[in-house]
Amino acid sequence: KILANTVFLGKDVKYLTECHSTNDMAAQEYKNGHLIEGSIIITDKQTKGRGQRGNRWYSEPGKNLTFSLVLTPCFLDVSQQFDLNRAISLAVHAALEDYVKGIKVKWPNDIVYENGEKIGGILIENTLGQRGMEHSIVGIGLNINQIDFPFPGPVSMAILTGGELDRDELFKSIIHHIEKEYTLLKKGKLKGLRQSFNQHLYRMDQWASYQEPGGKQFEAKIVDVNAEGKLLLKKQGGEIKHYTFKEVQFL
Ligand code: BTN
Repeated sequence: KILANTVFLGKDVKYLTECHSTNDMAAQEYKNGHLIEGSIIITDKQTKGRGQRGNRWYSEPGKNLTFSLVLTPCFLDVSQQFDLNRAISLAVHAALEDYVKGIKVKWPNDIVYENGEKIGGILIENTLGQRGMEHSIVGIGLNINQIDFPFPGPVSMAILTGGELDRDELFKSIIHHIEKEYTLLKKGKLKGLRQSFNQHLYRMDQWASYQEPGGKQFEAKIVDVNAEGKLLLKKQGGEIKHYTFKEVQFL
């Protein structure tokens, strides 16, 4: 399969009826020299889908979107890794917003509805070389047409729009937007990228509850996500604290 609405992304799309994890598959195939920048692996069923923080990623077979793409963002410094995250999140956000308003990006890399229900997530795995970023496997999992979930928290595009979506059309749109955002990233348009990420950020400037691992719950509001991707929370006393994603939990 070849996508027509892009220049380099998705010129090589491999569809698998089933695989362990498209991220693992793409990483392995890239190492073996079978993939190039822009290649995509997409499947209808993952038997060992992986999420962030070592979690599993569950998705009803044949209903959703689960795919990974290969990028070689050698132009980024290691300290700019989060900007790739921003570009991908914004691209997914833009594609979904065409179908329903109220889509938000949740730090660090979830896609949620405005009430916090999770539509999907992004798992980017970077390989660093001696001179910085070498290649990245960008994994995207989105709930599209799944209606029933075994536990509370997730939502799907079909639930939000009230009708089934054409997965192929949405996939093409996401790829198109990723190419667009990635091109801006390559051109060094970091200021705009960081601004729009903040603009679409879930809970930006809103008082809400957070928790440090093992600590007690506190109220704070997000005031920024800094260049390297740390979350800046302002507490009630006015103190602003920086968090990496292992250091804080949204409640
Ligand atoms: C998260 O929210 O925890 C990130 C989920 C990322 C899931 C996608 S599905 C395609 C790709 N392959 C995987 O094993 N994981 C990612």
